[in-house]
Amino acid sequence: MILLDGKTASHAVKEQLKLQVDLLKANNKRPPHLAVIIVGNNGASETYVASKVKNCSEIGFTSTLIRLDSSISENELVHAIHELNINSSIDGILVQLPLPKHINEQKIIEAIIPEKDVDGFHPVNAGKLVQGLPTFIPATPFGIMLLLEHYSIQTKGKHAVIIGRSNIVGRPMSILLSSNQQYGNCTVTICHSHTSNLHEICLQADILIAALGKPEFVKQSMIKPGAIVIDVGITRVEDASTKKGFRLKGDVAFDEVAPMCSYITPVPGGVGLMTIAGLLKNTLQAYLTKQ
Ligand code: GUN
Repeated sequence: MILLDGKTASHAVKEQLKLQVDLLKANNKRPPHLAVIIVGNNGASETYVASKVKNCSEIGFTSTLIRLDSSISENELVHAIHELNINSSIDGILVQLPLPKHINEQKIIEAIIPEKDVDGFHPVNAGKLVQGLPTFIPATPFGIMLLLEHYSIQTKGKHAVIIGRSNIVGRPMSILLSSNQQYGNCTVTICHSHTSNLHEICLQADILIAALGKPEFVKQSMIKPGAIVIDVGITRVEDASTKKGFRLKGDVAFDEVAPMCSYITPVPGGVGLMTIAGLLKNTLQAYLTKQ
């Protein structure tokens, strides 16, 4: 079993990006600039956003973190996004999800102009992905593709089973893995909460991607020997014995599943770090497309 180490793979992507930023700076150009909006103070969102900002600074990007109170109205948030849309010094805009219940997430996603939508969630960008046109690939599926590439994992002809059909992970992942491209050309099955024979389908997976957000859902009995297992889950589970009072758990019961696999991602230290690499690549792309 080989551990797919997100730390090593994301480091390699970030080193490449840093070289490109250094080159820009050497030519007296400003670096790419990402604006991140966080609404309220959801603990997990705070951690993700802090990590995005830190990673920007590590590779020489500029970032602006905009903190908004959870009581902000939908219209006020749309207005804040419009200001960023028209600000020519900002290349990418990311609104951390989830948002408070009184705000319609779809409306917010559509308020970001597609040219600055580094999450790739805008329907224009999602549509381009479906048609195989150049676009921003949502950061988590993008990161998983970068991880497969880093480890030169051949995917052609394999059966990829994805558990989860979200617009953030499952759906775009299914498009990428089924596309006619290197690290694509899979036969893809998407499973979800209404899939009746999930166990049997998972047992047929050469590549299993777990993105349902249920800690340790995927058990050893669901794994085909030699499968490649990618764990997208990252749930905080209470644990009084830790300093923070919680532990991070993936969607895969790692200890029992790992011995069955040819490759597996750990949680933490796997897909999460690759998501940030994907976001940084999208931000550079937004910047370069504008020049
Ligand atoms: N919340 C969980 N994942 C994501 C993501 O990829 N982008 C944004 N904006 N919010 C998220």
